[in-house]
Amino acid sequence: MQQTPLLSVDNLVVTPRNDPSLRLVNDVSFQIRPGERVALVGESGSGKSLTCFSVMGLLDPALEVTGGDIVWQGRSTVGMTPAEHRRLLRTELSMVYQEPLTALNPLMNLGRQIREGVPGVRDEDVLRILSEVGMRDPQRVAKAMPHELSGGMRQRAMIAMAMIKQPRLLIADEPTTALDVTIEYQVLKLMYELTHRMNTALLFVTHDLGVVARLADRVLVMYLGEVVEEGETADVLSAPVHPYTKRLLAASSLATARTLVLEEED
Ligand SMILES: Nc1ncnc2c1ncn2[C@@H]1O[C@H](COP(=O)(O)OP(=O)(O)OP(=O)(O)O)[C@@H](O)[C@H]1O
Ligand SMILES: [Mg+2]
Repeated sequence: MQQTPLLSVDNLVVTPRNDPSLRLVNDVSFQIRPGERVALVGESGSGKSLTCFSVMGLLDPALEVTGGDIVWQGRSTVGMTPAEHRRLLRTELSMVYQEPLTALNPLMNLGRQIREGVPGVRDEDVLRILSEVGMRDPQRVAKAMPHELSGGMRQRAMIAMAMIKQPRLLIADEPTTALDVTIEYQVLKLMYELTHRMNTALLFVTHDLGVVARLADRVLVMYLGEVVEEGETADVLSAPVHPYTKRLLAASSLATARTLVLEEED
């Protein structure tokens, strides 16, 4: 059963504008099907965030896509006009960032931020999504400014902003590294439940193989700008091939990761 991919990244190359020989992302290819959950792992600096930003069309202006293509539902996004790209971001693609404070507007209440830029959103939609992300008092939170919330609540507000439009793909770039472990678990669970219910595909960056085991259908492993390993989660975690993946697995709580894979298979 081969579904048309939602997203197809084909031989993507990203370089600095002033040094096209430096391939920060080098010949990266992968596909994501509707509703699929894909984990992106790899050591610091391996190109995970640049891959995510390329898909969003939000690369630093000092960088550019110099090779390959990013195809969204059959349409090349690399050739899109900025207006076409913005339309896509407004309705079909969302991203959750590592540090919500840098992504939230400090001067605008959360209700307005959640609604901003998304067509046709009503007050009751904002209150509903706030309650869906676990806010006990949606009315109060909608009126709150970002600095009035705890870190976990800000991350939930970011997820509300990302999910209000019921996107086809949510990209989450290490959304929980700034949170403590119990909050991290709740936020991941929330992302999992919401994407599952809305049939939103998920591309998420993490260093935690326990999280990969629980959340991902497939894993991509990046190393020095390249995808060096890719496969079904259970296959990659039970029999890693690339030395980096082996090291990562050895350094993680291997027993826990394996147990979780086995639980998923039951
Ligand atoms: N604006 C930029 N200009 C020049 N080089 C950059 C820029 N942004 C990132 N890089 C370089 O590109 C490489 C990949 O960066 P990227 O942020 O994608 O890594 P990452 O895999 O997300 O790492 P981490 O796990 O630390 O977040 C790194 O070597 C980084 O130094
Ligand atoms: Mg990164």
